[in-house]
Amino acid sequence: MKIFLENSENNLNVNFNLKLGELVHNFKKNDDKFQRWIYYQESFSTKLLDWFLKYENINKKNSLFLDPFCGSGSSLVGAQKNGIDAIGIDLNPLSCLISEVKTNTYKLSEIEACKNFKIPKFKKIDNVYSYYNLSIVKKIFSKKNLIKINLIKIIIKKIKNENVKKILLLNLICILEKCSNYKKGGNGIKRRKKIENLDVFVEFKKSLKIVLADIESKKSKSKCTIYNEDIKRFEDINLGNKVSFSLFSPPYVNCFDYFEVYKIELWFGDFINNYDQLKLLRKKAITSNLNADVKQKTDQIISSKLLIKTMAYLNKQKHWNKNIPNMVNLYFIEMHNFLSSLKKKIKKDSKIGIVVGNSSYQGVPVATDLILGEIAQSLGFKVKEIIVTRNNETSSQQYKKIGNLIKYIRESIIILE
Ligand SMILES: C[S@@+](CC[C@H](N)C(=O)[O-])C[C@H]1O[C@@H](n2cnc3c(N)ncnc32)[C@H](O)[C@@H]1O
Repeated sequence: MKIFLENSENNLNVNFNLKLGELVHNFKKNDDKFQRWIYYQESFSTKLLDWFLKYENINKKNSLFLDPFCGSGSSLVGAQKNGIDAIGIDLNPLSCLISEVKTNTYKLSEIEACKNFKIPKFKKIDNVYSYYNLSIVKKIFSKKNLIKINLIKIIIKKIKNENVKKILLLNLICILEKCSNYKKGGNGIKRRKKIENLDVFVEFKKSLKIVLADIESKKSKSKCTIYNEDIKRFEDINLGNKVSFSLFSPPYVNCFDYFEVYKIELWFGDFINNYDQLKLLRKKAITSNLNADVKQKTDQIISSKLLIKTMAYLNKQKHWNKNIPNMVNLYFIEMHNFLSSLKKKIKKDSKIGIVVGNSSYQGVPVATDLILGEIAQSLGFKVKEIIVTRNNETSSQQYKKIGNLIKYIRESIIILE
């Protein structure tokens, strides 16, 4: 495995810039406008786009930016700050709402309507737990907080202006974790050890102040269009052949399931109301985790020597879940097919940056940065550089299995032209 990794690295221009690690990860900072509303897992800093513009010497005038996995809209906010029009795509309707609210332009009257939102008077609601078809709802919210969430939702639903409605709904979604007995952790949600039980009415008001202050501070009025779409259907989305640069981070093939981690927000935002709908979203997601459609059969062979070797090693191991090798293979097939259509849909001299994290299974490194680099080359892209930005922390147990190949477990930016 070592020789194949080294060969691949020698054929691609791999360099280190660990200072960029700070931008590849969005650390929740209270003064980070827009990003401070809600923490989105595996999101990057809005400043990464500023870096990319400089690095590629991109002319801001007449540029159109695309983030096909826009998540919480970090890159879109970055583009807007620079006065650049942008397009964002994401399968997760919650991500699309976050991105939309952050990048919309609002009338003064809409902001005023949000400021004038009146917190309702508390009144009992019988059987409030039965409103939600979510099995863990009783464990997650106290009865009092759940009633308060519902009372706010009742008012929001009656609002006619869509922009006002979306700001207020997102604001409610942003405080759910704070006001609950759960927290996001690892690959899912966990019960908090120490229950804070913050009050929904108080937190809603506090959060709304911050959300509106950030919206009001926005100067640029550049346009941003969001598509709630499955990237596997990218060919069908009409982008008009005007995209001139793209910087994005697809899911990493690390078993992390965005729909599991955000299921409370999806449920309470009324994006889903039963487990079948949750399952459907998971199945459409890029096959980067075991809740995705990992059992699909395919004959497609991808032109990457490193992928072929990685698959051979993975197939020899006994994994904690037998679908892991198929998941990894499907991930690269889907990414190959996406990059192939991306090439057809963007302007000829477009600049592309892809932020990816590598993983390992049973001591076998899955060097996503190198494999995607090889795939991109096979599709006719020039791989200008692979910039390693962070070495991932690892457990001593993982180190025992992987040994010196641990250096391949890292986060990088693949630069394509
Ligand atoms: C690493 S995150 C992007 C985070 C984003 N850069 C940010 O800063 O918030 C990857 C995103 O890919 C989205 N995704 C997963 N499968 C998808 C699919 N089939 N089509 C479109 N988006 C998908 C997930 O919902 C997630 O938001």
